[in-house]
Amino acid sequence: MSLVRLVYFSRASREMSLSDLKSILDIARTNNNAQDICGMLSYDQRYFLQALEGERSAVNELYLDIADDPRHDEITIISYEYIDAPFFNQWQMGYAGSSAEFSRLLKEMGQSEFLPDKMTAGQALTFLQQLSGNQAEV
Ligand SMILES: Cc1cc2nc3c(=O)[nH]c(=O)nc-3n(C[C@H](O)[C@H](O)[C@H](O)COP(=O)(O)O)c2cc1C
Repeated sequence: MSLVRLVYFSRASREMSLSDLKSILDIARTNNNAQDICGMLSYDQRYFLQALEGERSAVNELYLDIADDPRHDEITIISYEYIDAPFFNQWQMGYAGSSAEFSRLLKEMGQSEFLPDKMTAGQALTFLQQLSGNQAEV
């Protein structure tokens, strides 16, 4: 079994409300649980940044499904790597949006607003890892 982690960012087709995000997370958590996939999603200023971890074929298939979703476009893979163990395994899909901690972490990496296309692969992963300890309940 090959475990992988895929991190991508995308642009929401329109501003997402909390209930829009909730419907994405509800389906994500149910499906990911069945597929043994875990991860972390963040959203702000119409950008999504998401990490998916799990068995290679399951992650690849899910990514293709997600990439087809009309709720976002400009989907760009930031990193794809083989991992020994998942980092986000406490969450079928964790979530964090704008918060004081979110802004503090961005500032730490020299960003005044959420622009995942300006993050290096290392920064994007560290950002999601740090956010996973500071999640919003959605
Ligand atoms: C930003 C974003 C992240 C998503 N993340 C997941 C996810 O982690 N797991 C998942 O099953 N679906 C996720 N979805 C939803 C899928 O795109 C798709 O709607 C869902 O898998 C249901 O697909 P189906 O209708 O083919 O069963 C996400 C959608 C968006 C827009």
